[in-house]
Amino acid sequence: MNTFSGAVAAPGAASASADSPGLTKPAPLRTAPPESDFPAWPASWYLFGSAQELRRGPVSKRFLGRDLAAYRTESGRVAILEARCAHLGADLGRGSVHGECLRCPFHEWQYAPDGRCVSIPRTAQVPEFARVGSYPVIERHGLVFFFNGRKPLFPLPFFPGEAPEAYCAARPSGFTATCPWYMVAAHGFDVQHFETVHGRRLLGPLEVDTPAPLARRSRYRAEVLGEKYYDRFLRRWVGREVEISITTWGGTLVVITGDFGRTRSRFFIVSHPQEDGATRCEIIVFAPRQSNRMIGAWAEPLTLGVRRWLTRAYLMDESHSLGSPQYNPRSLTELDREMIEFFHWAASLPCFPQPWTA
Ligand code: FES
Ligand SMILES: [Fe+2]
Repeated sequence: MNTFSGAVAAPGAASASADSPGLTKPAPLRTAPPESDFPAWPASWYLFGSAQELRRGPVSKRFLGRDLAAYRTESGRVAILEARCAHLGADLGRGSVHGECLRCPFHEWQYAPDGRCVSIPRTAQVPEFARVGSYPVIERHGLVFFFNGRKPLFPLPFFPGEAPEAYCAARPSGFTATCPWYMVAAHGFDVQHFETVHGRRLLGPLEVDTPAPLARRSRYRAEVLGEKYYDRFLRRWVGREVEISITTWGGTLVVITGDFGRTRSRFFIVSHPQEDGATRCEIIVFAPRQSNRMIGAWAEPLTLGVRRWLTRAYLMDESHSLGSPQYNPRSLTELDREMIEFFHWAASLPCFPQPWTA
């Protein structure tokens, strides 16, 4: 097991008893952290959107309490900058691309991909403050991801042991969960709800570890019991048992694998904390690429469509059925032990760094 040592309390944390050598007893149950301990905007990778959105020029969107502008430079790379111009705050997403630069629509200051203003019309003087924040960007599977910090604290994740080039991705589909990001991510550690909500009966204990310093993973084997149409579909066509792994990177990017008897499910849930306390979740479903491009041209969209339908139904059903769950550190019990440990981990995650002001 590729585990980052010492970064996580052992799952179902147990300690040797001094009185009874060889026997173990559970560690005392901790109280979950107060709401104020969680970072508002965890340092993580987020989904700006589809690369196709940039075909007609720059686009601005609001993320993580700030406005961001994305554009494709003439050499073809995608850059993301803070969208408020350092001069008088016009929206750079309404500007235009000139070479590698993004030009403000107001007084035409031009910004390089690193956020520095490199040109102001009718003067050779560029003041020191003339810069905006820039974000690390990765374009993959036709999607634009960004890290909310100066430098990524971890690489954009993928499925363990698998190459991104071996997969294609479906168009993302989203929903808004009316709860904070850490309540969304806590699902991966909420043992009870696997059966009560998802109709998955665990066939063994939940295993929890940290495969990287800013990743927390849960794994379990389960029987598909649910009676929803997608559960029946799975049992009939895919398999009755499934091995699940759920890895939460940076608290907001969740990488999920499900290995059934006859096929494998692969998807991301990218959570975007909102200013009103809700969480916008984007689901990205993946399928293996076909080596034969002729077959791939029809088989890939077909398999992505089926996978997207099943995954979306599974997650949307849950979102609709739960209403607005609320975090309460004092209402958790021994049965919630793994969730409590997750909440402590999530509360310790690095926050969005200070803005890039000059
Ligand atoms: S507001 Fe952007 S150049 Fe003036
Ligand atoms: Fe869930």
